[in-house]
Amino acid sequence: DLSDQLARLEEMFTIPQAKLKQITERFVGELEKGLSVEGGDIPMNPTWCMGYPTGHEKGTFIALDMGGTNLRVCEVILTEKKGEFEIIQSKYKMPEELKTGTADELWNYIADCLQQFIQQHHDMKELNHLPVGFTFSYPATQEYIDHGVLQRWTKGFDIDGVEEKDVVPPFEAAIAARGLPLKLTALVNDTTGTLIASAYTDTDMKIGCIFGTGCNAAYMENVGSIPKLAHMNLDPDLPMAINCEWGAFDNEHAVLPRTPYDITIDKESPRPGQQTYEKMIAGLYLGEIFRLVLLDLHQNPDCSMFEGQDISLLQKPYFLDSGFLSQIEEDPHDNLQNTLELFKSTLNISPSRSELEFIRKLAEMIGIRAARLTACGIAAIVKKKGWKTCHVGADGSLFSKSKFFKGRQAQGLKDILDWPEEYGKGKGDPVEVLPSEDGSGVGAALIAALTMQRVKEGQ
Ligand code: BG6
Ligand code: GLC
Repeated sequence: DLSDQLARLEEMFTIPQAKLKQITERFVGELEKGLSVEGGDIPMNPTWCMGYPTGHEKGTFIALDMGGTNLRVCEVILTEKKGEFEIIQSKYKMPEELKTGTADELWNYIADCLQQFIQQHHDMKELNHLPVGFTFSYPATQEYIDHGVLQRWTKGFDIDGVEEKDVVPPFEAAIAARGLPLKLTALVNDTTGTLIASAYTDTDMKIGCIFGTGCNAAYMENVGSIPKLAHMNLDPDLPMAINCEWGAFDNEHAVLPRTPYDITIDKESPRPGQQTYEKMIAGLYLGEIFRLVLLDLHQNPDCSMFEGQDISLLQKPYFLDSGFLSQIEEDPHDNLQNTLELFKSTLNISPSRSELEFIRKLAEMIGIRAARLTACGIAAIVKKKGWKTCHVGADGSLFSKSKFFKGRQAQGLKDILDWPEEYGKGKGDPVEVLPSEDGSGVGAALIAALTMQRVKEGQ
């Protein structure tokens, strides 16, 4: 019956302290491997963002943010006053069809949004060229900061003819075709933007993380600790932000406790074998894991889940998002009345009381597992760097919208890093994850400003 199933799933989805520690140990090794010449699962991409802002950067920049859900265009004015900036922005929806459409459709759509924004705010004739910080949140190989070869699409994108090519020329061609007075100055990952924007206002910030549709982190290394750059004979003391692309952690399947549901998600994704860690954690996948469990139990004759109900909507892949799970978890009623309504209105299913209780527990298990697993990545960077304390800047829908995520993540960090007793008694946690200041707006603008400064100084 359902209680046996619940016990079975609890066993599968619970990650005890010892396992968290084991995953973290492996993670530390994989971070090192990614920086080495041989490489490994995690790309550890050098970003050519070399150092933190001083707070005195100035100028007007266009920041373009191509995330998984929205396309955002911002104009950021950095004033010389430390940490102060002005921003105007417009959000455009990333149409679902675009994610699996053609490369031309993608670049034209982005350029059209930029054109709309520029025409709305400026007289094109009077406008001098504006530098653009383009937040392109996918793994890219960069030899310069204003170029990037897409390693592979992630987060469900599947557009032919873009992978393994430089994304900047087609972007610039679409801009030129519209006569837009814009110049791409820096191609930036959302995690690098988050790191730089966070450090702009809080110098304890050492890691930038995204917990959203995808999951990833960036932090600063010294060039001397990046063996794969040794052939370039750079000053070993130069700082360099590394975009870890840690979503690819454990593609070798050595340590993560994957369930049959995780395996199905991977098999049916556009890029099987990729992003193993991300597929257990990120917002894009949590609703799908939940849906697959419910469908499995419906099909299992021993537990007759949703017996006699029309489950046609539940059969639709990716029909439920992580916001759906949050709503279940946040249902304040003992009788889970909101969850019942939610199931009726979204899925056309009326669960019984025991099914509702099961549903709530399942949503919790999936959310707890995801949050605890994110702690492994953070703890691995902290351990690798040997930091005793630091702040971590975070953004993304899971982090900002899911009520329980932060607490669960903090508990995971505590389980892994074994903090001394005095913490928790009025002192903040030694490793504290805090909401970041608009990484893809002000972060991308700052990186563009830092790049222009470096070019000016001839570095
Ligand atoms: C946004 C940032 O706030 O968060 C983006 O502007 C980032 O750069 C995004 O990619 C991540 O969150 P989500 O939930 O949209 O994937
Ligand atoms: C995916 C992308 C990565 C991005 C993350 C968060 O993991 O590959 O580049 O930072 O999602 O948006």
